[in-house]
Amino acid sequence: MGIKTVGVLGCGLMGAGIAQVCAASGYKTIVREVEDAFLKKGLGRIDKFLAGGVEKGKLTAEEKDRTLGNLSGTTRLEELAGCDLIIEAIIENVEEKATAYRVLDGVVGEHAIFCSNTSSLCITELAAKTRRPDRFAGLHFFNPVPLMKLVEVIRGLTTSDDTYQQVFAFAQSLGKEPITAPDKPGFIVNRLLVPYLLDAIRSYEHGLGTIEDIDKGMKLGTGYPMGPFTLLDFVGLDTTYYIANIMFEEYREPAYAPPPLLKRMVLAGRLGKKSGQGFYKY
Ligand code: CAA
Repeated sequence: MGIKTVGVLGCGLMGAGIAQVCAASGYKTIVREVEDAFLKKGLGRIDKFLAGGVEKGKLTAEEKDRTLGNLSGTTRLEELAGCDLIIEAIIENVEEKATAYRVLDGVVGEHAIFCSNTSSLCITELAAKTRRPDRFAGLHFFNPVPLMKLVEVIRGLTTSDDTYQQVFAFAQSLGKEPITAPDKPGFIVNRLLVPYLLDAIRSYEHGLGTIEDIDKGMKLGTGYPMGPFTLLDFVGLDTTYYIANIMFEEYREPAYAPPPLLKRMVLAGRLGKKSGQGFYKY
């Protein structure tokens, strides 16, 4: 059975972006948040992004309306009953995810595929929390979701060939460029990106240069769109710290160990752009 209706769990930064690209690609999309206020905020973010796109001439007002017409929000998991694909983008906590999967397993059709947008948790472990471990895969989007072309498709130990193929084709149908990544912490991109970001902090701690100069060096010297500190603030220092800890726990290699400054900045609430201060002030 083909995928027509998509349910997205979570309407935060990632969930809202995912819901937007699904709706823009013609899928009936239902996004679920735990509270009305969060839902309103997430849907408002989508509206604002689409309005910005119209202003920039990237899409027409009709395309914006069509996307919004494909999109609805709810606070009830039960309203996702008719979905063919669930994409979960909630808090990075195995038990919280398992609780949502448990409810959905009871209401969503047998044929439906579950995907997690987790950036660091084990796909095989999450699959084992459902009654459909063969119809479970990782589908990892990048921030900002509507602009970043890449999606990582992750096969857990139990993911069936058919599920993997359907999820890969679904990612392509969103206009994304999927790659296949292993079920190991960091998958492909964060496995390489996170040690680079951690190394930038370590180098700064050791006096390599100012934050501004290191950023300028990497941006203008290598063509990266953002220097490492700008990117750290953009991704969130708490998110980076969390991913680094999971990677360090699994690989036990110093490259993944979060540097002391990162930990202290998280403890001080300097989480980056979202908190108003990280390596820069906003
Ligand atoms: N609707 C449609 N298009 C829009 C838009 C909108 N609302 N807003 C911007 N755009 C378009 C712009 O028109 C522009 O298009 P062109 O290139 O065709 O001109 C493009 O998007 C870029 O936008 P801007 O020019 O406004 O901004 P920018 O050039 O500074 O790029 C950025 C912004 C895409 C975020 C860029 O800085 C970038 O790629 N940064 C790195 C982001 C990154 O590394 N993300 C991954 C983080 S890691 C992660 O997510 C994984 C994890 O697990 C932690």
